[in-house]
Amino acid sequence: MGLITAPRNCWYVVGTSGDFPSGDLQGRVVCNRPIVIWRTSDGDVLAYDDRCAHKRFPLSKGRLMDDGTLECAYHGMRYDVSGKVVVIPSHPTGPISPQAKLKPFPIIEQDQLVWLWPGDASKCETRKPPRTPEIADADWDTVIGEPMDTPANFMLLVENLLDITHFYPLHDGNIGDLANSLIPIELEEGDEDGNHYVKTIRCVQNYKQPPYLVDWFHYETVDREHTHCMQSPGFTRVVMRNAPPGKLGGGLHKGSIERGYVLMHSHTPVDDRRHIWRWYLSAPVDHMSAGDPSVSSAKRAASMFPAVVAEDLWALEQQQAMFDYSDEGYQEVFLKPDKGLRRARQIIQKMVREEEAATGSTQAAE
Ligand code: FES
Ligand SMILES: [Fe+2]
Repeated sequence: MGLITAPRNCWYVVGTSGDFPSGDLQGRVVCNRPIVIWRTSDGDVLAYDDRCAHKRFPLSKGRLMDDGTLECAYHGMRYDVSGKVVVIPSHPTGPISPQAKLKPFPIIEQDQLVWLWPGDASKCETRKPPRTPEIADADWDTVIGEPMDTPANFMLLVENLLDITHFYPLHDGNIGDLANSLIPIELEEGDEDGNHYVKTIRCVQNYKQPPYLVDWFHYETVDREHTHCMQSPGFTRVVMRNAPPGKLGGGLHKGSIERGYVLMHSHTPVDDRRHIWRWYLSAPVDHMSAGDPSVSSAKRAASMFPAVVAEDLWALEQQQAMFDYSDEGYQEVFLKPDKGLRRARQIIQKMVREEEAATGSTQAAE
């Protein structure tokens, strides 16, 4: 297969709520669309095409004025919060064309995340962004990683996240655990809020935990459920629940005997060769680690992440570089544990085909 162009009719994370303080202009590129985003003094987050209607100057390099208008840094045209031009300095008394306005993009702020729909705005109600309730819940301790500008197609990360058989050898020395790769996989699929998800489920009993999981979650031998779910092309949710043998089933929450985490990943395509990867790790707020009882399980686990993520980034970059060569003479082989990521790829390809059929072209979902 070649690289997959991301579907645009999908919600993608553009930042956390805290990334958008009022009065601060920010530029993003999502699925090849340049976008300016800001929070108004009323608290709403707005998103428009980042190109000034006059000469394409990036509006995210402009400034917000005291009256709430956005001033372009080139010739000073000003836009109101509805995206309409309301001031043209070079002809202050002339009429303003109704064409002088910006294309808006749907935005949803939910559970401390800000989501953008880069596709056909008339379809944005057909799907909803996945919920991330743990991030905003005081019963959960959440660590949020810095956004990582990742030089690889977003699908390579989706496949990486749904695949734990790479823990050995890629993560040998930190979270590497070859026994993990041998656990049989169940697959679940379904629809939630308009998104078709695929989930891999790995269940084990009387499993001897590798040292790092004992350090984070205490128990040496466990019953364990480990799930990886691509909830949408922009979001993957990983849940690990561990309990002493025979005790799994009460759920993971504050005060629970189950220990573990919810590890969420957003993967927001910039273009075919680049995406922004961010992770959000939550564990019940009263779960302290065994390795350092003064440090929460969430923070203890998160402290290992930069090293793990650096190894994944290295792998993604190496893979991406190999797509520069023609597929001539090359054939990709799917292994049994790849069934989840294979379905993920098919789900995303179907979305892309549907968009292409609706518009009659590629990447033109207007
Ligand atoms: S390019 Fe923005 S005002 Fe001219
Ligand atoms: Fe990894």
